[in-house]
Amino acid sequence: MTDITKTIHGAWSSRFAFILAATGSAVGLGNIWKFPYITGENGGGAFVLVYLLCVLLIGIPIMIAETMLGRRSQRNPIETMELLTEEAGADKNWHYLGWMGVIAGLLILSYYSVIAGWASAYVLKAFTGSFFDADAAAIKTLFDEFVASPIQLIFWHSLFMIATMMIVARGVNKGLEKAVQFLMPALFVLMLLLVAYAMGTNSYFKGLNFLFVPDFSKLTANSVLTAMGHAFFTLSLGMGAIMVYGSYLPKGISIAKTAFIIAGADTLVALLAGIAIFPIVFANNLHPDSGPGLIFQTLPIAFGSMTFGWVMGILFFVMLVIAALTSSISLVEPAVAWLVENKGFSREKACVWSGLATWALGLGTVLSFNVWSNVKLFDRSIFQLLDYLTANLLLPVGGFCIAVFAGWIMHRQHSEAELNLPAQGYQLWKVLITYVAPSAVFFVFLHVVGVL
Ligand code: PFF
Repeated sequence: MTDITKTIHGAWSSRFAFILAATGSAVGLGNIWKFPYITGENGGGAFVLVYLLCVLLIGIPIMIAETMLGRRSQRNPIETMELLTEEAGADKNWHYLGWMGVIAGLLILSYYSVIAGWASAYVLKAFTGSFFDADAAAIKTLFDEFVASPIQLIFWHSLFMIATMMIVARGVNKGLEKAVQFLMPALFVLMLLLVAYAMGTNSYFKGLNFLFVPDFSKLTANSVLTAMGHAFFTLSLGMGAIMVYGSYLPKGISIAKTAFIIAGADTLVALLAGIAIFPIVFANNLHPDSGPGLIFQTLPIAFGSMTFGWVMGILFFVMLVIAALTSSISLVEPAVAWLVENKGFSREKACVWSGLATWALGLGTVLSFNVWSNVKLFDRSIFQLLDYLTANLLLPVGGFCIAVFAGWIMHRQHSEAELNLPAQGYQLWKVLITYVAPSAVFFVFLHVVGVL
C-alpha cells in the first residue's frame, strides 16, 4: 500500500492561508453574477430559501468531507481517490470520481472565462466613462452591442485565460494568498456601498421582498435542482477543487471550523449582491429574469449616477475580475496537479495544454451569445447546456459520490481521526454526510426526471 503520510506537493503556510484560498475559490462570479440572475429567473424568495437550506445541510457537510479526503491523501483528486479506495479496500470504480472532477473543472472554466472576460471589458468601459449619466436603456444597449461582437468576447476571454494560466503556472501557494487577503475585505466594503445605494432607490423594500419573502408557487422541480446545483457551484464543491486545496492543508488543523467560515463568507457576499441588485432592477423597471446580463445591465446604472461612481465602477469590476481569477485557478488546479504529478508534465506545459483546450471550448460559449444564438441542443444554447451539465448535473453527482464515499466507504476511524471533532459534532456530520446529503441530492434528481 502507498504511504499515505508522504507529502509530495506544496502546503499552505497556515490555516488562515487555506481559508483565504478556499474562500477565493468559493467567492467569484457565482456569487455576484450567477446568484442574482438565477434568483431572478426562478422567482426570488422561495428559490433563495432552498439554496440556503442546501448550503447548510448539503454544502457544508460535503465541504468538510471533500477537504478531509484531500488532506488525508495529500495528493491530486485522481490520486486521492485511488489511494483512499485502496486504503478502504473499496471498488476501483471510485477512481472515476477524480476524473469526473477534472473534466467538470475544465468544462466550467470554459464558460467561466468568457463571463470573466465580460467583467474585464467592463473595467475598461467604467474607466472610459461609458456609464456616466446613462439610463437603463442606454446601459442595456451597451451590453447588447458588446455581447453581439464575437471578436470582442474572444479578445477578453483570451486575456482572462492567459492571466489564469500564468498564475497557475507559478504554483498555487505563491501570490494567491496575498491577493485574496486584500480582495475579500475590499470586495465586502464595495458591496456594502452598493447596498447603501440600493437603499436610496425607491424600490429597496420591493427588492428585499423579492429576495426574502418566499412564494412557493414559483418553485418548480427544475428550480429546486438549480438551487441545489448552485449550492455546489458557489462553494466550489463536487469536482475536486476544494479537495486539491485540502490536500495542501497541514495536518492538525480543524476542517469543520474552516468550512463554516468559508461557507458563511460566501453566502454573505451572494446575499449582499442580491440586496444591491434587485432594488436597482425594480427602480428602473427592469426584469428580474433578464438572464446572464443582469448585473451588467443594473450595476452600471448605479455607477453612472452615484457620487464617486466612476472610481467605484472601476474598482468594482476590477475586484470582480480578481474574484473570478481566484476561482478560475481552482477550476484548473485539479487537472494541472494531475498532469504534473502523474504524467510528468512541467507545470508550464500542463498549463499550456489545459489552457488551450479550455480556451477552444470557450469559443462555443462566446458564439452562443451572438452568431450561434439560435443553435439549441435540448432546448438550450451552448452556454446554457454547459452550465446545466456542470452545475446541475456533474457537481451534484460528484458531491453525491463524495458524500457516499466519506459516509459509507471510508472507515469511521479514519474520518474521525482526520476531523478530530467533539463526539456530538462528529455524529452530526456523520448523519448529514451518510444520510441527509446523499438522499437530498437523490430525491431532487428523481423529482426532476419526474419519478416523484
Ligand atoms: N465557486 C466559484 C464561484 O462561485 O464563482 C465557481 C467555482 C470554482 C465552481 C471552483 C467550482 C469550482 F470547483
